[in-house]
Amino acid sequence: MVGIDKIGFYTPQQYLDLKDLAQARQVDPNKYLIGIGQSKMAVADMDQDIVAMAANAAEEILDAEDRQKIGLLIVATESGVDQSKAAALFVQELLHLHHNLRAVEIKEACYGATAALGWAYDFVSLHPEQKALVIASDIARYGLKTAGEVTQGAGAVALLISQKPRILALEKQSIYRSQNANDFWRPNYSQEAFARGKYSEELYLQMFSQVYQQAAELISEKSLAALLFHIPFSKMGRKALQTLTTQLTDSDYQRLEQRFNKSIIYGKNVGNIYTGSLYLSLLSLLENDDTLKPNDRIGLFSYGSGAVAELFFGRLQPGYQNSLNPHKHQELLAQRKKLTIKEYEQIFQQHLVTDGSSQLIPSKRETGHRLFKVENHERFYK
Ligand code: HMG
Repeated sequence: MVGIDKIGFYTPQQYLDLKDLAQARQVDPNKYLIGIGQSKMAVADMDQDIVAMAANAAEEILDAEDRQKIGLLIVATESGVDQSKAAALFVQELLHLHHNLRAVEIKEACYGATAALGWAYDFVSLHPEQKALVIASDIARYGLKTAGEVTQGAGAVALLISQKPRILALEKQSIYRSQNANDFWRPNYSQEAFARGKYSEELYLQMFSQVYQQAAELISEKSLAALLFHIPFSKMGRKALQTLTTQLTDSDYQRLEQRFNKSIIYGKNVGNIYTGSLYLSLLSLLENDDTLKPNDRIGLFSYGSGAVAELFFGRLQPGYQNSLNPHKHQELLAQRKKLTIKEYEQIFQQHLVTDGSSQLIPSKRETGHRLFKVENHERFYK
């Protein structure tokens, strides 16, 4: 049995209230709150790039034994800091991991962490005495005053994969699909993503429907206690769930909807964290729902633009609650500083130097990992 043993989460310590964004953009706040289904979005300072966030998310879950047993470290991201070197190598050092491991980065839009999880599953199945650490870390940027602006966010989720997992045992069989599509992309020269917004929603729904129908047998054999989605914004997952109204009985649909509502609590306050969004939904469900039981079966729908989709399944383990940290994560969200629109726009426009000169990165953090300097085109962390 292989699966998720521990889950860590980190998000920057400041946010923008989407009511303020609506006012600034002269939009009815209900469009953002109800139409998009988001409340707040996390805003990353320059010292919290995807490497620092990844290390911060993993730091909270690793004990000495884990550090010794990790044989595979994968950072999944689409906001990578280098075209060549894997973010995982910086993270390996920040986490004081040993050197007898593979450290790599994986990319396929928001699907990257699911690809990483598949590799981690195979790795642990082959090396049962070792563990794999998968970290999804991203900063979603579309640009000021764009249609996607309200769906930005920042954060990281770390998943420790082991034999005899304490949270969720993963099933071997899953359903997946890929197709070349231009729904969302970010060229190497651009800090901001481009999207064909409505088309991306249609493709997400189409691929969900395709993998769900293909998985019909897997689902009908053993019914689902919850169905989780990649959440670029909560309305997207809700739309996907709503496609099932005619296929499910009222009581099945109500159960899934109730649990879906618990799964979007964290994401509604963080925004899109791309690779980590599905796993933040899992964490949100497990830390906010008190009706789930051991052995309950959970379906997870992963979607990455471009596009790859996968529907996979897991079973909750006895005592899974003891491996969670709801108070810490709720506090992490509650303690954040609210930014004004002016502060948010200033942060958005900050950039690291690109001419090789030395730049010290200011930080509001006293603890945790952060980027502190760039010099000669290299990044330095502590
Ligand atoms: P938009 O132009 O703001 O859309 O773009 P809209 O004007 O149609 O409004 C959105 C919704 O608000 C609509 O509801 C309106 O009716 C509603 P819907 O028809 O969708 O159900 N609305 C209101 N509701 C209540 N009160 C009101 C009101 N006014 C309007 N007063 C869009 C929205 C999501 C397209 C845009 O934000 C965007 O382009 N976002 C980025 C792309 C994206 O997130 N796509 C999602 C699918 S692709 C994906 O998930 C992958 C991704 O994570 C990337 C990756 O894989 O790496 C993005």
